[in-house]
Amino acid sequence: MPEPTGPWPASARFGPEGLAVGGVSARELADEFGTPLLVVDEEHVRARCRSFAALFPHPLYAVKAFTSRQMIRLVAAEGLNVLVATGGELEACLRAGVRGDRIAVHGNNKSDEELELAVASGVWLVNVDNPEELERLDRAARRVGATQAVLLRVIPGIGAGAHRAIQTGGAGTKFGMPLEVVPDALRRATELPNVRPVGIHAHIGSQVLEAEPYLAAVEVVLDLLERLRAEVGFEAEIVDLGGGFGVAYTDERPLELDALAPALLARIREGAVARGLPIPHVLVEPGRSVVGAAMVTLYRVGTVKESDGRTLVAVDGGMSDNIRPMLYGARYTVAPAGPPRPGSTVRVDVVGRHCESGDVLARDVELPFPVARGDLLAVAATGAYTYSMASTYNRVGRPAVVAVRGGRPRLWLRREDAVDLERLESSPPPAARSQPPPGVVVRPAVARDAASYLHAYASVAAERRYIQTEQVRHSPRELRRRFRRSWTGEGAHLVAVEEGRVVGGLSIRRDAHESTRHVATLGMFVTRDRRGRGIGSALMDEALRWARSVGVERVELTVYPHNVAAMALYRKFGFVEEGRLVRHAKKSYGYEDEILMAAWLGEPGTGSDAGEVVG
Ligand code: LLP
Repeated sequence: MPEPTGPWPASARFGPEGLAVGGVSARELADEFGTPLLVVDEEHVRARCRSFAALFPHPLYAVKAFTSRQMIRLVAAEGLNVLVATGGELEACLRAGVRGDRIAVHGNNKSDEELELAVASGVWLVNVDNPEELERLDRAARRVGATQAVLLRVIPGIGAGAHRAIQTGGAGTKFGMPLEVVPDALRRATELPNVRPVGIHAHIGSQVLEAEPYLAAVEVVLDLLERLRAEVGFEAEIVDLGGGFGVAYTDERPLELDALAPALLARIREGAVARGLPIPHVLVEPGRSVVGAAMVTLYRVGTVKESDGRTLVAVDGGMSDNIRPMLYGARYTVAPAGPPRPGSTVRVDVVGRHCESGDVLARDVELPFPVARGDLLAVAATGAYTYSMASTYNRVGRPAVVAVRGGRPRLWLRREDAVDLERLESSPPPAARSQPPPGVVVRPAVARDAASYLHAYASVAAERRYIQTEQVRHSPRELRRRFRRSWTGEGAHLVAVEEGRVVGGLSIRRDAHESTRHVATLGMFVTRDRRGRGIGSALMDEALRWARSVGVERVELTVYPHNVAAMALYRKFGFVEEGRLVRHAKKSYGYEDEILMAAWLGEPGTGSDAGEVVG
């Protein structure tokens, strides 16, 4: 299996259409899924998994590098086991369908709950960080009624990696126990009834580009094993060397696993034989080197400006979707993703959209001149520790993740939207208050409104673009009957009346089912010549007043994507987009999508500030 040498995914091609990955053009992906967008070359991930499975006897994918359900499933299907660092990662793997006995758990500060979850899930290994944790794990295992196989995490005294923050195996690290305490910890582990020590774990750091630190760590571990046998009579079945295998981001040479793997395995085998030790199974835990180069991020250019002699190109993401340049001074390769433009180039800094001067993704990037708003840029090797470290800084939602393979895109993670960003708020948004414009009255409909209502409704239906109905089929009689009961516990029919003429209407109705009685759905219209004057707002205000008065907690509606004025109105009242009903409407002119929007009014009587306008 040839190893990747550059930072781009194996299937990336720069052709006349611009960048394509997995046979799908960057432009198509950006148009369909929006930007910033993380694109996964699925075949590349699979090939990396197979390389590891061929080179090492027991590779585990460190899911912290990039976690999504499809990623976990794919990696597991390719034969890798998984390494998790927290209860959250453990649950993600279990939910992805990975059996407990294929999961190893590490972490320097595991809670009792996490330990118990691990044991109860039947995990293969727990990498114990320190002697105190060993005691707690034993108790957790006793509560579960199981015996847990454990590795002891040791500090080999060798730290390596691209940045101080990701060197983990050296003195002073917060991970693992110093070599001198290991014999006592192991002795204790053999005494405790519900843990079974099976080996040693040593991880030296991340983005390691040389073989030497690994080989040096192996010597330290072998010497330790010799000592443990002499002092404690312990013989290790497993040696876990962690992950950390470096990849190319720009011009660095990635660590050559084809050479490293046999060297490491031979060193352990020969070292064990030389010391008269049984030959242990060797585990490795790659994260970055499985997924790092398999992904690219697509951004769209917004503002371009000159500042102090430099050209600054601002893209629609930044430190919220890739914190690594800011945190570690990480360097990335950036390339234009649109069709090639021959001619001169310009040297630019690619900056993000966040409110910090440090939000710089890459400096001194050469791009075709001129760089313009709307251009697509691709950043290479963004698979590892970008999405998994993403934040919602400035209330920018995390990007979507799309996998590509054989010319087909598949959405792995949808973009985090306004609703997602709202979901932790415990109080509903304050309600807008709206008075109808002078001369307009908003009130429950009465029977004698029927004819005028039908006239107004039919005029909006005839426009065909704003409401579902294109042809009104109600009879005035039927409407009169409805309007006789226009404000009940089940629903309301409201009208906006100007000079005796109906100019707008709204119907709202609560769900019949017991479990959705707290939900109501509404539809509304305003006649063409009366739009933009606040009539819609006045109708909505009254509808929400009805909803609150009958204990409705949630109001739903759908709107056509082109109806931006209506969406703005709905947002003002706290409606947020919850989804897109694709081709939900079959109109005379073709299919239309509908955007589902909903407003949460709050549970009645919870004492929250529901409905209060603040400030
Ligand atoms: N095993 C252990 C015990 C680890 O702590 C780690 C990563 C790995 C395996 C996987 O290492 P990898 O093969 O991915 O280098 N956020 C940093 C990297 C932190 C690595 C933490 N531990 C970055 O963006 O560079």
